[in-house]
Amino acid sequence: MDGLDTLKAKYLTAVADATDESALEEVRVAALGKKGEISAMMATLGKMDPEARKAAGASLNALKDEIDAALRARKAGLADAALDERLRTEWLDVTLPGRPRRMGTIHPVSQVMEELTAIFADMGFAVAEGPQVESDWYNFDALNIPPEHPARQEHDTFFMHRAPGDNRPPHVLRTHTSPVQIRAMMDKGAPIRVIAPGRVYRMDMDQTHTPMFHQVEGLAIDRDISMANLKWCLEEFCRAFFEVPSVELRFRASHFPFTEPSAEVDIRCSWEGGQLKIGQGDKWMEILGSGMVHPKVLTAAGVNPDEWQGFAFGMGIDRIAMLKYGIPDLRAFFESDLRWLRHYGFAALDMPDLPGGLSR
Ligand code: PHE
Repeated sequence: MDGLDTLKAKYLTAVADATDESALEEVRVAALGKKGEISAMMATLGKMDPEARKAAGASLNALKDEIDAALRARKAGLADAALDERLRTEWLDVTLPGRPRRMGTIHPVSQVMEELTAIFADMGFAVAEGPQVESDWYNFDALNIPPEHPARQEHDTFFMHRAPGDNRPPHVLRTHTSPVQIRAMMDKGAPIRVIAPGRVYRMDMDQTHTPMFHQVEGLAIDRDISMANLKWCLEEFCRAFFEVPSVELRFRASHFPFTEPSAEVDIRCSWEGGQLKIGQGDKWMEILGSGMVHPKVLTAAGVNPDEWQGFAFGMGIDRIAMLKYGIPDLRAFFESDLRWLRHYGFAALDMPDLPGGLSR
């Protein structure tokens, strides 16, 4: 058979010149495909006499194998080159440190809520919740503040609208977290140990008051809980929260309709050169109201006061956040000023816990 060398040279060159897989496939079809040039020559073998067929068949098969091998080798080479190219352009140095991304900061109020939840959880307190739009029974009556009680005026309450003709007492924006005491006791009974952090509302606005602010309620009811337990609990909390070796609290006799006896609690601090220090100095800062839960409150919540007693307290979260982190103006807390948030905010991925340290 003539011309096989020419054919071989033609196809091997074509294989070598193919720059991608589809070009290579075209070469394969032209040579070895059903209607390809080599296949066509194979088809003529049948018409040859046996001697000639044997020789021609052998050299055609050898040529076919050679082209086939060249095609495969080229294909593998192209794939390697493609991979090399991807590796060259898509490389990534996994040993480089991550690029820091701005992902916002945790607001000091959220941070402080996490911190105090961690501390009270460690003392066996669960977290309870209640609605911010509250019925006046939960916000007042059940807490021993009947309709004509002067304490209702002191609360500067926001009232919700009722439909015209609906003469039931209006709902209120809760003026304190104390209604959660009632809800938690009605829900879980006694003994109980809960805290209830959340938003509260009063019509008040100046440098130290905003119409919305945050409180955390504490409630511990058992058979023999006393003011001594309250005092220990609050001291322990303040020490852990302010991250100082010791704190000094001052219990001042006070009055709340829902506790008897009642006490307001101040913390010793100093305020020098704009620097606030906790646990030393000659200033006192009021941080909470507290007392032994009034028997009428226990009764309203379905807890028998002959069997159970305990303490409750309500603490201003914004206030202790300002104290701990040296933030001078309360109003800035709720203005959503990004510069303020970046300055006073906390890293989003640092969750405060006791073993890890609260504020790191
Ligand atoms: N609810 C009171 C307030 O808002 C605080 C308080 C709570 C006092 C629990 C005593 C017991 O001022």
